[in-house]
Amino acid sequence: MSHHAETGAAPVTLPQLSAYKAEGKRIVMTTAYDATHARLADPHVDILLVGDSVGNVCLGFDNTLPVSMAMMQHHVAAVARTKPRALLVADMPYLSFHLSKEETIRNAGSFLQLGAAAVKLEGGAKRLEVIHALLDAEIPVMGHLGLTPQSVNVMGGFKVQGRAEAQAIALLEDAYKLQEAGCFSLVLEGIPAELAKKVTETVHIPTIGIGAGAHCDGQVLVLHDLLGLVPGRKPKFVRAYADGFSMLSTALRAWSEDVRSGAFPNAEESYMLPDALRSSVAQWQSPDLGR
Ligand code: KIV
Repeated sequence: MSHHAETGAAPVTLPQLSAYKAEGKRIVMTTAYDATHARLADPHVDILLVGDSVGNVCLGFDNTLPVSMAMMQHHVAAVARTKPRALLVADMPYLSFHLSKEETIRNAGSFLQLGAAAVKLEGGAKRLEVIHALLDAEIPVMGHLGLTPQSVNVMGGFKVQGRAEAQAIALLEDAYKLQEAGCFSLVLEGIPAELAKKVTETVHIPTIGIGAGAHCDGQVLVLHDLLGLVPGRKPKFVRAYADGFSMLSTALRAWSEDVRSGAFPNAEESYMLPDALRSSVAQWQSPDLGR
């Protein structure tokens, strides 16, 4: 077993995550989009997700639909280079798993070649064929049900799902089918807590909730949300554990004031010439160029 280069800790594996469910040990997952995020979050979590939420969080899009494979590969590679101890999951972006089994395997396989251990994809029963194809290609799959952001147009906005009876039953059936297909875990997003509880009690694979109440086997929040880095209105399910945006703004304001006042940099923050060179540099005069 290979160990993390810096901490010496053993990497988190799929069997370990299912053991967590059996032992009643909660699973912690957050997102990371670059090497700094990964180094910050890795010591504290079991799963690092390079989510297609990179589109909203880092790339300035209004939703995740414009996120491409090339964008995801760029971010997955950055996180993978830190060799995290947490299980690294890469999110399959919109259109990367909708066209054919072959293209889905090629796309997901490219994430594994970059260093991810598994992929996540949104959707229920209609995704079973590609999920089977991925598992046949030795690519572990995490499912994602409920408020699936890539379905924003079909849902008519980012709305809690599973509040109507037919929808709730369909979600329970989808969860069971994804488990039977071989998914190793399920993200449950934006659904009533009681429904997430029922799914969690019904399936033997771990459920990881976001806006899905307290009864899931684990919880995921977007890193920037839990650090308070996103200004403005925050969804009900987000708890910000720091006011990251104002903390970092304070630091930036202090630095810019120091630059403007001349207080930055000081002598300790500067490189000096060797003693022998100091006077010749000081005495040098610019050549008269005849102007
Ligand atoms: O893209 C993402 O960050 C996600 C998580 C919120 C589950 O899908």
